[in-house]
Parts: sequence; structure tokens; C-alpha cells
Amino acid sequence: MQLQDGWLFMSLEEISIQVQNCKKCRLWQTAQHGVPGEGPADAKIMIVGQNPGAEEDQTGRPFVGRAGKFLTKTLAEYGIKREDVFITNIVKHTSPENRKPYDDEVAACVPYLNQQIAIIKPKVVVLLGASAKETPRVPGIEYFEIVHPSAAMRFTKMREKFRAQITELVKRIQQPN
Ligand code: URA
Repeated sequence: MQLQDGWLFMSLEEISIQVQNCKKCRLWQTAQHGVPGEGPADAKIMIVGQNPGAEEDQTGRPFVGRAGKFLTKTLAEYGIKREDVFITNIVKHTSPENRKPYDDEVAACVPYLNQQIAIIKPKVVVLLGASAKETPRVPGIEYFEIVHPSAAMRFTKMREKFRAQITELVKRIQQPN
């Protein structure tokens, strides 16, 4: 372990344990599970949502509800396997009535995401919907903003945009650098 920006530099497993026991903000009090994220440590693509919903809270796994299933299915149609992607959220606990996380909750949690990005060093970090505005950028990492799958599921125009953006993402991943 080494010190990085005042945080101990951790492995993905250590981050996962810390998230599961995290009490840095109030959200643990109303949640069942911390949801650290999942996927390979050498993933080329990281996908980042805002925070877990009810089904993610029950299972401790990210994007397993309706929007997650839609995302997984759409990625597969473009040749991207979910198991090859690291999927996580900015805020690692669900919020009461799925409200938007408060700024202090984002500030408390975002170091976990930054450490995950620093360890995985993906080619592209894909930010879903509103999460794009909340995520501080790690220098040297490419960020790619796409429509949130829950919006793509509901609205035809959003779905068309979502598919076009995934087409772009695939091209980006296939480029040498
Ligand atoms: N599920 C998640 O894990 N995150 C989201 O942002 C939405 C659904």
C-alpha cells in the first residue's frame, strides 16, 4: 500500500470491503448493501452510473434491475460482453426513494471511484446520463458520455441516441490508442 492524495492506495478487493462497511455519509443507514461494482481488473471499458437502485441494494450488485438488464442486452448486441466491462456507480449505496445523491454524499464516495479508475486504467470510462456532471475527471483517462439506459428504455429518441453512442464507443475501443 502507498499513500495517494491522502488515501491509502487499495486493491479492488480492499475497496470492495471498504464500500461494504462504509459509513462516510448517511446512506448506509437506509441501505441493505454497499454496491462496490464488478468486473475484471483489466477491463478496457468502465461504465459508471449515479447510484444503485432497489434491486442493486438487495443483491449488492450494480445494474441488475430493469435498466441494467437493458444495458447488458444492448451492449451484447454490439459485441460488448458485460463480463468484460467493469460496472459501477459514483455513489455506492442506494438512497431513500432513489433520490439524487446529495453533494456531500458524492464528495464522500467519489474517492472510491477514482481509485477504481486508477487501478483499472481503462481505455474509456463511460458515464451514464447525469453521472457525467458529477464525476471529476482523472487526468489521462478518456471519458465518454452516453444516455442513461433507463431513459433509452423509455423514449424512442433517447434509444436511437443511445445506440448511436454505443456504435461510437465500439469504434473508439477498436482504435489502437
Ligand atoms: N442501477 C445502478 O446500479 N445504477 C444506476 O445508475 C441505475 C441503475
